[in-house]
Amino acid sequence: MKDIINKLEKKEILTYEELDKLFTGYLKGKVNDKDMTSVLKLICKNSLTREEVFNLTDIFIKSGDVFLKNLSFIDKHSTGGVGDKTTLIVLPILASLGIKISKMSGKALGYTGGTIDKLNSIGVKTDLTKKEFYDTIGKVNMVISSQTDNLCPLDKKVYALRDVTGTTNSVPLIAVSIMSKKIASGAGKILIDIKVGRGALVENKKDALELAHLMIDIGKKYGREVKCLLTKMDNPLGSNIGNKLEVMEVVDILKNGKENNLSFLCTEMASIMYKMMKKVSLDVAREKVKDVLKNGKAYETFIKFVNLQGGFIKDEELKYKEIKSVKSGFIKSIDSRLIGKSSMALGAGRVKKNDKINYDAGIILQKRVGDYVRKGEVLCYLYGKDINHNDIYDAYKFSFFKPLKEKIIIDLIEE
Ligand code: URA
Repeated sequence: MKDIINKLEKKEILTYEELDKLFTGYLKGKVNDKDMTSVLKLICKNSLTREEVFNLTDIFIKSGDVFLKNLSFIDKHSTGGVGDKTTLIVLPILASLGIKISKMSGKALGYTGGTIDKLNSIGVKTDLTKKEFYDTIGKVNMVISSQTDNLCPLDKKVYALRDVTGTTNSVPLIAVSIMSKKIASGAGKILIDIKVGRGALVENKKDALELAHLMIDIGKKYGREVKCLLTKMDNPLGSNIGNKLEVMEVVDILKNGKENNLSFLCTEMASIMYKMMKKVSLDVAREKVKDVLKNGKAYETFIKFVNLQGGFIKDEELKYKEIKSVKSGFIKSIDSRLIGKSSMALGAGRVKKNDKINYDAGIILQKRVGDYVRKGEVLCYLYGKDINHNDIYDAYKFSFFKPLKEKIIIDLIEE
């Protein structure tokens, strides 16, 4: 083992067999956490060649169950952000347009939320049997379930170690982690939303482009069509952060036509995915998407899906605390990382894997980037535990001048 690590130190290229010995060895307990941490740190420092990334992805895929490739299924993935509830909006839009879409999602760890926790917060059951999985998709064209324990178990073990060793933000490791799960779960077409900026794993456009091309090329090796959308994650997505609060915003968009940066991003994502499936122009796809948002079909599908998996949406009066602005001015930015951390401190997230979440906890941003705020006006509402409010104030930056409108989509990378 030590000679393979020495090769990595000397920036020599590792063979498939050597990578397998290290990583499958780690899964089987033959390589310890300390040695794997050295390996991950060396990869973060020196990167990997394309060939090594392809080989490592293959090793991750083969570590668990592999579902048959199904070209009639499309999937989406996001590299994780604060207030990101796109799955809960994009899936019902596509399902109501007759497109079958299944998704295996994860729980939250750290300050980025998890789709599974959001669904569990309204009673939706997500640990489905195979029969329940296929029954739901048969009835409403969509299904969301927890990742099975045996889908890329190697990723699960390596990701948990990356999370606590500061090795999450390596482009080759992110590419291997995402693509191995997507390929193992069988989708024929995949749209990946790469978040860029403060509060995201990828902080600049150069790294995001490298990641996009790497994932598209991994997809090609396995006959999958992959496209990547590069989107900004400097400010939170939408207004609501925290599990039940985020579902409330999903309802606001699907049922009440609320418009903001989140609804815009979801409309674009759903249109790109519709185009990938139906081979129509993006303009035609956008019209279709807007139709099902307007005529209520997307909302109807969402409710049917929630009910089928045992959940329900009810109007609830949750207890909150108003946070008032201590100055006047335009809001220039709202730091999503700090908002995510405050939301976690309120009880909406986990510090450790088995921590219990308060589903009612979180933040509603009353004022958003570009809004003018007077001293004493409400900036946001806090739900959950009492926390130090200075943390929240730290997230806001003000300016005398109205800032330019934020462009959320940076680029679409198609090949
Ligand atoms: N999402 C994943 O599944 N893996 C990563 O490494 C980063 C984001």
